Amino acid sequence: MNLFSKIYSYLLLGIFSLLIVDGNLNYEAQIEQFDLDMEEKAIQIGTIMAGMIAHTWNESPRKAIQLVEDADRADTQLDIRFVWLDEIPQDRKRRNPVLQSFIDSDTPQVISFIGRDEHRRKHRFTYIPVAVPGDRPGAVQISESLAHFREYTQKILIRFLLISSLLALISGIILYCFITMKIKSPLEKLTRKAIEIGKGNLEADLEIKGDDELVNLARIMNDMCTRLLIAQEKIHFENLARLKTLEQLRHTEKLSTVGQIAAGIAHEIGTPLNVVDGRAKMIISEDLDREEIIGCAKIIKTQAERITLIIRQLLDFSRKKRTIMRASENVLTLLRQVFHLLTPIATKQGISLNLKVVSEAKVSCFIDAQQIQQVFMNVIMNGIQASPEKGTVLVEVSNIHLRSMLHTDDQMKEFLRIDISDEGQGIAAENLDKIFTPFFTTKSIGLGTGLGLSVAQELLEEHGGWIEVDNRQPKGAKFSMFLGLEESA
Ligand SMILES: Nc1ncnc2c1ncn2[C@@H]1O[C@H](COP(=O)(O)OP(=O)(O)OP(=O)(O)O)[C@@H](O)[C@H]1O
Ligand SMILES: [Mg+2]
Repeated sequence: MNLFSKIYSYLLLGIFSLLIVDGNLNYEAQIEQFDLDMEEKAIQIGTIMAGMIAHTWNESPRKAIQLVEDADRADTQLDIRFVWLDEIPQDRKRRNPVLQSFIDSDTPQVISFIGRDEHRRKHRFTYIPVAVPGDRPGAVQISESLAHFREYTQKILIRFLLISSLLALISGIILYCFITMKIKSPLEKLTRKAIEIGKGNLEADLEIKGDDELVNLARIMNDMCTRLLIAQEKIHFENLARLKTLEQLRHTEKLSTVGQIAAGIAHEIGTPLNVVDGRAKMIISEDLDREEIIGCAKIIKTQAERITLIIRQLLDFSRKKRTIMRASENVLTLLRQVFHLLTPIATKQGISLNLKVVSEAKVSCFIDAQQIQQVFMNVIMNGIQASPEKGTVLVEVSNIHLRSMLHTDDQMKEFLRIDISDEGQGIAAENLDKIFTPFFTTKSIGLGTGLGLSVAQELLEEHGGWIEVDNRQPKGAKFSMFLGLEESA
């Protein structure tokens, strides 16, 4: 039930209750008056009759009785009789103590009461003593049936119900119109405006006429909208200013990145070029024997290959598009192969590599084995480089149900999760959002190009996966990689 219906029903209930109380009081007063009138009328007629009987009795008792019978015949509603009190049946007297005391009294007074006749029907009985000569006590008995009294009460009741219903209907209609005009439609307007505000329409266009609380609320809402509009505009201008500053910052960052790349490339290519230059000079000097010349040539070849590799990496990175050769692969097998390749380097630095697999984890993915191995290599290599002596690089494999970070569909999917953590110094908070930027490195020139993580991130994303990073407590870094599991797995 909405607020409007509640108010309406409570008010109607109130009106009905008032009408019922008022009607009931009226009804009781009218009934009482009617009964009083009946009694008075009987006493009046009875008293006149008693006087006339007493007067005529002296003349002729028969005439006196005849008088009573004539009066009885003349009045259809009243039953008028002359009765000898000593002839009233015992059981009637027993049933009615008022009548009993009237009969027993030496100086009886007029009595009037409601009793039943010989047919058990309700009547109002009135007895007026008559002073007739002789010892026998006589009285005029007037009885009136209460049947028409019942009819009268029924009529009053029906009239009361009709008037009450009519009043309730009229007041209900008036109330309905009043509540609709003064409460319901202003409230609906306020609700509609609140929804509009929720949708972002901040126009202060709420119009409610009058001077009550709802109008006040509308004024407050309009005021609020105006303030919100001003605040919104302020935020808009602040955002524009912030964007401009950010643009400038990015430009500066770009310049510094270009500088870093240049420095990195210069060093990466510069070192092997120096070696090539030195070896070539040695060959030109013709001081070397055949074996030494072959040795120099081999070194030149290795350095040339290193330069080619660096350039290929750069080209790969700038070209962005790689061809992926997907196949169903067991990720554990790939990880073991990477371990096999990296163990000699790790052991040399006193670092152990540890592989932990959650039992019954699904490990089959539809991926390009070489590219994903490249991802593992880059991240595990970083772990080895960051680890202190006797440290451990731990690789954990498990499954997890997640919403994909890369796709907008809201469905939960099961992923393969690979966590690689080390016990190094971790990543400085200010670098956390930079480490995936190409060429970002904190390693000395020549030790890192800053491409490892950006390449890893790009390869994973091309496979529909992603990589996350966090620092471990108390120290060390943890990289988590997610790959979609093979559908049939
Ligand atoms: N396990 C780690 N612990 C601490 N810092 C790390 C870790 N892994 C990466 N980093 C930080 O992230 C930077 C970028 O790493 P990334 O692998 O992209 O480049 P790099 O290791 O410096 O060079 P390379 O191209 O040879 O991999 C690193 O220089 C280092 O500062
Ligand atoms: Mg690296």
